[in-house]
Amino acid sequence: MPKPLHDFLKQAQRIVVFTGAGLSAESGVPTFRDAQTSLWTWYSLEDLATPEGFVKNPRLVWEWHVWLRKLIDSAHPNPAHRVIAWMEELLPEVTVITQNVDGLHQRAGSQNIIELHGNIQRTRCFNEGYVVGDWEKTEEIPPKCSVCGGYLRPDVVWYNEAIPEDAWLAASHSVRHCEVFITIGSSGLVYPATELCNLALASNAKVIQINPRVTPLDAHASINLRGKAGQIMPKWVLEIWGGQI
Ligand code: APR
Repeated sequence: MPKPLHDFLKQAQRIVVFTGAGLSAESGVPTFRDAQTSLWTWYSLEDLATPEGFVKNPRLVWEWHVWLRKLIDSAHPNPAHRVIAWMEELLPEVTVITQNVDGLHQRAGSQNIIELHGNIQRTRCFNEGYVVGDWEKTEEIPPKCSVCGGYLRPDVVWYNEAIPEDAWLAASHSVRHCEVFITIGSSGLVYPATELCNLALASNAKVIQINPRVTPLDAHASINLRGKAGQIMPKWVLEIWGGQI
């Protein structure tokens, strides 16, 4: 392990862990893009994961999300998810900011989580936006909201949709005030990953990147760890904190 990494993690009071699709890859969770395979290969992302697609064919979009939700249900948090949860217990302040909708951080035990793209296990009203816990089970697909009668939809941020403002404000606040920013499994190519990484750099945070591939952030990060998060992170526990997960 590089000595600076040891020192950054040992001394930091406030750490942000930013996670993208690559973190859950080792748990077998496909990205939206990858989840267009098998039965769904004839449909585009516009058909399956945009508000316009939902208006056009709500049944198709609902059924695709049910399929994806089941796939995610059968996945398990991997060692990297568990190390992140463990860090929260051990270090003064750890905030997880994730682009993933799979809820694997929660299942690993993390509590301080900001979900930028929602969570596929939750459902909300398409018209009004509020999260709905339960609904009348009928033959209708998608089911209808018992308050307004409109369709229900998964509580995820689709393409062509904005990140919820409260999640964005909380995320940018945490990044502005962190000392160490660890980005894991994100290509860093698109908003909001680019903005958050830039904000961390502008705030003089130490930026640590874990990714098997080269990304645009490589040139700017303090430390680039080339490899899979599930293999790299468990070593930290022993080497830095002398523990085991
Ligand atoms: N450990 C760490 N990183 C990994 C691993 C791993 N085991 N496996 C893959 N990666 C890296 C890849 O090299 C890639 O750089 O994870 C990154 C995943 O990149 P993207 O698929 O672009 O994921 P993300 O950055 O989260 O995507 C941004 O685009 O497709 C949309 O909806 C999707 O919200 C997502 C957004």
